[in-house]
Amino acid sequence: MENKFNRTLVTAALPYANGGVHIGHLAGVYVPADIYVRYLRLRGREVLFVCGSDEHGVPVTIRARKEGCTPQEVVDRYNRVIKESFEGFGISFDVFGRTTSDTHRHLASDFFRTLYDKGEFIEKESEQYYDEEAGTFLADRYITGECPHCHAEGAYGDQCEKCGTALSPTELINPRSTVSGGAPVLRKTKHWYLPLDRHQQWLEPWITQDHKEWRSNVMGQCKSWFDMGLQPRAVSRDLDWGIPVPVEGADGKVLYVWFDAPIGYISNTKELLPDTWEKWWKSKDTRLVHFIGKDNIVFHCIVFPAMLKAHGDYVLPDNVPSNEFLNLEDDKISTSRNWAVWLDEYLCELPGKQDVLRYVLTANAPETKDNNFTWRDFQARNNNELVAVYGNFVNRALQLTKKYYGGEVPACGELTGADREIIGEFQGVKAEVERLIEAFRFRDAQKEAMNLARIGNKYLADSEPWKIVKTDPERVKTILHIALQLVGNLAIAFEPFLPFSSQKLRGMLGMGKVEWDRLGSLDLLPAGHRLAEPELLFEKIEDSLVEAQVQKLLDTKKANEAASYKAQPVRPDIAFEDFEKLDIRVGTVTACERVPKADKLLKFEIADGLENRTIVSGIAKHYAPEDLVGKQVCFIANLPPRKLRGIESQGMIISAENADGSLSVVTVDREVKPGSQVK
Ligand code: MF3
Ligand code: ZN
Repeated sequence: MENKFNRTLVTAALPYANGGVHIGHLAGVYVPADIYVRYLRLRGREVLFVCGSDEHGVPVTIRARKEGCTPQEVVDRYNRVIKESFEGFGISFDVFGRTTSDTHRHLASDFFRTLYDKGEFIEKESEQYYDEEAGTFLADRYITGECPHCHAEGAYGDQCEKCGTALSPTELINPRSTVSGGAPVLRKTKHWYLPLDRHQQWLEPWITQDHKEWRSNVMGQCKSWFDMGLQPRAVSRDLDWGIPVPVEGADGKVLYVWFDAPIGYISNTKELLPDTWEKWWKSKDTRLVHFIGKDNIVFHCIVFPAMLKAHGDYVLPDNVPSNEFLNLEDDKISTSRNWAVWLDEYLCELPGKQDVLRYVLTANAPETKDNNFTWRDFQARNNNELVAVYGNFVNRALQLTKKYYGGEVPACGELTGADREIIGEFQGVKAEVERLIEAFRFRDAQKEAMNLARIGNKYLADSEPWKIVKTDPERVKTILHIALQLVGNLAIAFEPFLPFSSQKLRGMLGMGKVEWDRLGSLDLLPAGHRLAEPELLFEKIEDSLVEAQVQKLLDTKKANEAASYKAQPVRPDIAFEDFEKLDIRVGTVTACERVPKADKLLKFEIADGLENRTIVSGIAKHYAPEDLVGKQVCFIANLPPRKLRGIESQGMIISAENADGSLSVVTVDREVKPGSQVK
């Protein structure tokens, strides 16, 4: 760390209090932030770790409406759920505040007023959708309609979830208000804007020249914003949930949630330290570091710094380590689709395994690209790394000590070349872990810590104390003395990453919490020191546990699909003559087989009352071919033939698509002659 800083203020993005937190949150933001903070504390640095829940904004009001309760009830509930989840995983915030606290309301309001008085905003009128029945302006998320790009129904005013395109509400075809169901009308409304275009002049060189060390994913996003040219951003909304705009004539208007939320970092600090908070925010020797996920980059690198600068009193962030996203079993984590591993559920279902998840999420951290969490990988990392490497080394060293010396650390004799080599190796680990953590490379840093355990295992395997304990007892004492020092070192090295395990290990060693600087020392456990009873540090994870978790995910997916099923809207009318052109017939399946190397296709032989025909159909995932033979199916008879995998398909078999995407062929209720027409 550069010595111009005397303290580090670490913030972790304030999670929205409209739902719980899941492994994506933990992997993206909170575990890395916690590793960093724990490391700094162990080094004796002055550090403060600030978080809290983000309790305003439209998502909270949507949730409240859905559940038939007030927004305040929603945020009260989730503030608690989130706070407890983080505590459960040992995320060691100094404060976890709320953006509905009085401290926050006042500070955010004053912040806005300061910028307003300094002339840092511009006022603009624009036209926005208004629901006349409900008597309210509509947030983008409250408007749905047809997507102008892919024409899916149910696209939102800010985004089409089918094709992923970002939208503005006026682009929607046939917009509807989700509040009343009626068609919204455009109405004039006034808002305050932060003129980011005016800030580009200083923001661009500040980031691209003065902060070249920022992660490339962060830098890349910033540059692309600069290249497009920054635009004024509205900082108020027409909404009845939020902090009122503290200006005359702003009735019914609140601060935009992205204006008030980052100010929450400041107000939560003030909540914790009412008398000394300013030194954390207003002195130049504070190093401010924001841990966030990639969807938050623009707000923390551009918008919030512009707000801070416009205000004038505050320090700017020195770094904004942002992760990419974590997927779950190859699918995007989604709260609305319930595709997630929720932390509160994990804590109930896998008690005592917090460190396993911390370990796996760091080992797989999406630091440079999106990454994937699977329960199989979770099991493998636990069994092959935590149990087989770390746990195994600790257990062997402690069990041998118990067996040979009754659990007392033996004295160290003369060192051999092999001992010196091992000692040299493990002393080098300290500098490496430090370098990596300070560069926010937690994944590699943890690997390096794990290396210590590998070194230990190799040492025991090579020196084989169990073989020479009778013939060379002095040598065995030395080996175990060194191995035990290594075990003690492991407790320190893993302290930032796996705090629960380090604590447990220190308990077994009878060792108090030790400063980071002792990492690499050879005198952590002096000769004669008594160890406590050894226990297993990690336990093997069985297949059944993993299978149950995977099944749970599949079940939620199914349930969600069924619950969210809505029949597609009817397509535009066609002329009757057009319908008459379609020749649909019934045929009897005389043979059916899989198409080699095509996992979706089945090849049918169909008796059609004429010359018979071959049809290839994409339903192999839904039927075993032998179950279809003898069935009467409906097919379109007058389509031009098509080649599929080298087979000419003469028509199309009709099937119905169920809510879960499964296909069911259309048959007839009573047997008919092959070739009968469907009218
Ligand atoms: N609630 C936001 C999210 O979950 C993050 C807010 S971070 C803050 O994406 F800086 F605004 F607090
Ligand atoms: Zn679309």
